[in-house]
Amino acid sequence: MKEQIERLKKEKEAVILAHYYAPSEVQEIADHVGDSFYLAKVAKSIDAKIIVFCGVSFMGESAKILNPNKKVLMPDPTADCPMAHMVKEGKIAEMRAKYDDLAVVCYINSTAELKAQSDVCVTSSNAVRIVKALPNKNIFFIPDKNLGSYVAEQVPEKNIIVNDGYCPIHASITARQLKEEKDKHPGALVLTHPECEKELLLMSDHIGSTAEIISFAKSSDAEEFIICTEDGVLYRLLEENPEKRFFFPDPRPCCTDMKLNTVEGVLSVLMNENNEIKINEDKRNSALIPLEKMLELAK
Ligand code: 13P
Ligand code: SF4
Repeated sequence: MKEQIERLKKEKEAVILAHYYAPSEVQEIADHVGDSFYLAKVAKSIDAKIIVFCGVSFMGESAKILNPNKKVLMPDPTADCPMAHMVKEGKIAEMRAKYDDLAVVCYINSTAELKAQSDVCVTSSNAVRIVKALPNKNIFFIPDKNLGSYVAEQVPEKNIIVNDGYCPIHASITARQLKEEKDKHPGALVLTHPECEKELLLMSDHIGSTAEIISFAKSSDAEEFIICTEDGVLYRLLEENPEKRFFFPDPRPCCTDMKLNTVEGVLSVLMNENNEIKINEDKRNSALIPLEKMLELAK
């Protein structure tokens, strides 16, 4: 399959992008692997006719919004992020009516529909910096309450109202599970994604996006780490640090949507050019504004 994929990639001028949560064998065949911010940047600058996006639909959609002239294909079109839909209809308009100077800050883990109604997008690796840089005092942060609350603590000078969405995978890691793991590995550093609950963040040594967790583990002198994020990051953690030891809270956090990406799926979309992301042009144009603003402000 790998040989067929390589041949088709050359023949069709295609590139494969994968998120760190995709299965190991998919990360292994990808041309670029990264966190949401890195993948959005790569998608914007890449020279290819076809992008095969091994992630969930908001990631494929973002790539399409940034690249209207490229075909963006998903190995499994049902791979979706439940949090991306967690803003109630009418909520944004309600908040805009309440505050004159409101900025709607949209975590990239959201549908194109929600992005189209927002002022700026952020990812977990640039949310604090971008919110700080906005001139607005009042911020409505959608859809993730946990990332939103984390940003609010880091930027106390702003009035940040958080929406009540959450990632079911990160939000279900409990402080008790983490404590049990810490008791088993008392010397381990705890590295946590900001989509986790505050209780967990308070017990952590480092908080960051998937890419930030990976780079922290690499540059740290510590030898053992407890990782509070989805278990797909283990592939890169072990590639870069074969001598270090990594543990996860039990049960190991696993995003079933991300795991829908398979090597067979990649080969199939490369052959058939199916599962193409399509977005209505008006919606695409509106959603492009906050995505481009993110790329600009994050520079
Ligand atoms: P990152 O931007 O840290 O890769 O996070 C993406 C994601 O879906 C987290 O659950
Ligand atoms: Fe969405 Fe959570 Fe899966 Fe990330 S881990 S894609 S936020 S459900």
